[in-house]
Amino acid sequence: MRNAPKKSAGSLNADFSQHGRMKTLAGAKSDSRVTDAETFLLPTYKRQPFVLERGKGCYVFDAAGKKYLDFLGGIAVNALGHAHPRIVKAIRREAARAIHFSNLYHNAYQGPLARKLAEWSGLDRVFFCNSGTEAIDGAMKLARLCERTPQDAAGQPSRKHRFLALENSFHGRTYGAISVTATEKYRLPFAPVVPGVEFVRFNNVADLEAKFDDSVCGILLETVQGEGGIYPVSELFWNRARALATEHGALMIADEIQCGLGRTGRYFAYQRFASKPDMAVIAKPLAAGLPLGAILATNKVASYISPGLHGTTFGGGPLVCAAALECLQIIDDEKLLENVRGRGEELKAGLQALAAKFDFIREVRAEGLMLGVHLSVEGAPFVAEAAKRGLLINCTHDHILRLLPAFIVTRAQIREFLKLFSAVLAAVSEKPAAAEITAPVIRPSNKYATAR
Ligand SMILES: Cc1ncc(COP(=O)(O)O)c(C=O)c1O
Repeated sequence: MRNAPKKSAGSLNADFSQHGRMKTLAGAKSDSRVTDAETFLLPTYKRQPFVLERGKGCYVFDAAGKKYLDFLGGIAVNALGHAHPRIVKAIRREAARAIHFSNLYHNAYQGPLARKLAEWSGLDRVFFCNSGTEAIDGAMKLARLCERTPQDAAGQPSRKHRFLALENSFHGRTYGAISVTATEKYRLPFAPVVPGVEFVRFNNVADLEAKFDDSVCGILLETVQGEGGIYPVSELFWNRARALATEHGALMIADEIQCGLGRTGRYFAYQRFASKPDMAVIAKPLAAGLPLGAILATNKVASYISPGLHGTTFGGGPLVCAAALECLQIIDDEKLLENVRGRGEELKAGLQALAAKFDFIREVRAEGLMLGVHLSVEGAPFVAEAAKRGLLINCTHDHILRLLPAFIVTRAQIREFLKLFSAVLAAVSEKPAAAEITAPVIRPSNKYATAR
């Protein structure tokens, strides 16, 4: 590894074009782009030791030309895979017209995209931002705003200010979002966080009832917990949360950032229930890989907002909204929800067959193309072995392998995955025994929750 290079943009570009791109990797450590990343980036991620350069459909290719079957999909972003011709065409077309104006003007795509999202979600109004965490923060602000009384408006802390969120939740990295994120490693290092948040035991109706009162302004829940390891909220819990929110005048906020927009085989994961939330937040796949998030809300919520109370410079620009509109149209045109359901079932069945063969697989959890393989051992060696064999997956909570393939994945690619994954499981299990992990599978933790 070389010493830290000079930090001029010129030297970075020169390294990139002269040494990085053309070189076949003898080892990633000798790739100048990897050493630059290690030298100049904040160390926020443990990255796999290769440079990805391009993708096509469900495959990506690294700098050495090695091909990987991508079953992570950019962590649930690349629903249409890579380089979908219609997305490429829309981005090319719009980039040559206008990338950004400002939210002080209308653009050609924001209104039509909002209409489409209202039709898909059954909610009424949309606010566009740039990421999931921003959408969460905005939704929390809206929940506080809706429940403020005229006395509160003078700046006094509102009595009705508390948020409920669920244990094992993940909602993002900004201050609002970490405040409602239960996993301590994301929240505690940054304390004190937004006050007034309480965590409810997962799918535990008795605990929900005990913690709900008139001081709650909002309850946030991922309809299917993603980062937490693919745990769906139960119908019983959803219905009770809906009823309590209505009874106490609080807003129910569904975080559909990972599970929404088709991932579970429905436009929104909450559409398996009879009732709707007051707000839903989305992001990841919305603009086919470009950064775009959104808050979807009822007309009632919208009636509390007025110009100047919330905003964004970048959110909802013409280029991203054109890509998003095309993305949603492709999901409909190519009947991708059917594909999500069909391929999801095949993948789940294949994984269950592997679970019967490998006793360190404790459980397979699946909702459409959102799957978790819960291990009793450390997951990281499986991720590394998979990458070596040309397969991209990831691991959450140290022991849950997570699969989030593109909605366009084919039957043949599911078979290819199962073959590769089976070889990965066999190869790692033959290595010296990994430490057993004792973290339990989450179960609804009281009889009341399951019996009613
Ligand atoms: C359920 C959920 N909420 C919020 C977020 C945060 O989204 P972003 O990374 O776009 O800020 C994520 C990201 O993984 C997520 O899965």
